[in-house]
Amino acid sequence: MAERVDPYEVEGKVDYNKLIKEFGVKKITPEMIKEIEKIAGEVHPYLKRGIFFAYRDLKEVLEEYKKGNKFFLYTGCGPSGPIHLGHIATWRFTKWLQDKFDVELWFQFTDDEKFLYKNMTYEEIAKWTHENMLDVIALGFNPKKTHFLIDTKHAGIIYPEAIKVAKKITFSSIKAAFGFNDSNNIGSIFYTAMQTVPVFLPNVLKKENRPCLIPMAIDQDPHFRLSRDVVEKIGHRKPAIIHSKFMTPITGNEGKMSSSNPDSAILMTDSPAEVKRKINKYAFSGGRDTAVEHRKLGGNVEIDVACQWLKYFEFDDKKLEKIYEDYKKGKLLSGEVKKVLIDKINEFLAIHQKKRKTAEKLIEKFIYKI
Ligand code: TRP
Repeated sequence: MAERVDPYEVEGKVDYNKLIKEFGVKKITPEMIKEIEKIAGEVHPYLKRGIFFAYRDLKEVLEEYKKGNKFFLYTGCGPSGPIHLGHIATWRFTKWLQDKFDVELWFQFTDDEKFLYKNMTYEEIAKWTHENMLDVIALGFNPKKTHFLIDTKHAGIIYPEAIKVAKKITFSSIKAAFGFNDSNNIGSIFYTAMQTVPVFLPNVLKKENRPCLIPMAIDQDPHFRLSRDVVEKIGHRKPAIIHSKFMTPITGNEGKMSSSNPDSAILMTDSPAEVKRKINKYAFSGGRDTAVEHRKLGGNVEIDVACQWLKYFEFDDKKLEKIYEDYKKGKLLSGEVKKVLIDKINEFLAIHQKKRKTAEKLIEKFIYKI
């Protein structure tokens, strides 16, 4: 089966071990997790559970941190639709890193990228930039340590650096990285330069020399493979990266969750009734055809979407383990696990939606002042 994982397409069943080899990244080891725990004082469930599973240069960044030179975090959002639970997973972990390591976060909103790649007007994209900022703020990032960069708004500081990056990337490397051909628009060819700039921009602006750590889903890696090649040539450090897997789409199908198909994902603005409807109707079940059979033979935790999604929301290891055991033994039915998940998600969304309402007032605090 054809498999494709790049920023613009995630297709097929993703084999993460194969990706590790193909992309040339390293798998996070139990020793590394211990190392992180030593510094952070705890381990985030997403690390223990293999949701964040691979890295580049992370060891070096931790070593330097221990010696007293803090890194800064960099991640981003392409604003072309509503935020869903898949996006949020990466950003919840990013917030944890910010809190535990007490570091700055630079958050890029790539309105240029989405305008260039999607069949949408600039006004539509601008609306999504605004809406998406509210969701990021609602997650509780520290406004004193978080800086939003909006590509078209901060072009004055980004563009002079982007041209330095662009001058070092050839059209043929872009073609090879993204499968482009002569009919791709010229803006999209340039775009990787824009996504590269925040890798070193904080150091330029503050005249510092800190390492950059990027928490992100693995589909963004092709951009940063190019970035890592060029930034050293223009006098900056290569960024370190920590990669996450994709949250399975609700239907359990291949690929990743997508906001362009609202039924494949739970959106941050979904009502409790909507969450319940989507999960009950679409969540792929690893259970048996009948309750009788299920009680006798048990269910398959690995393919059951409700069981898998609970990894993102039930942070109590013992409770999660018990649910998995009971499901495997047939003591718990599919519908019952779904109910646990629905309650967990709705609890999380209630808090998020409340915070989102007050986020508007904070936007100006987050947008980087030139
Ligand atoms: N290209 C990303 C997207 O489409 C947005 C983005 C920009 C990003 N900079 C990033 C994502 C850094 C992760 C890390 O969503």
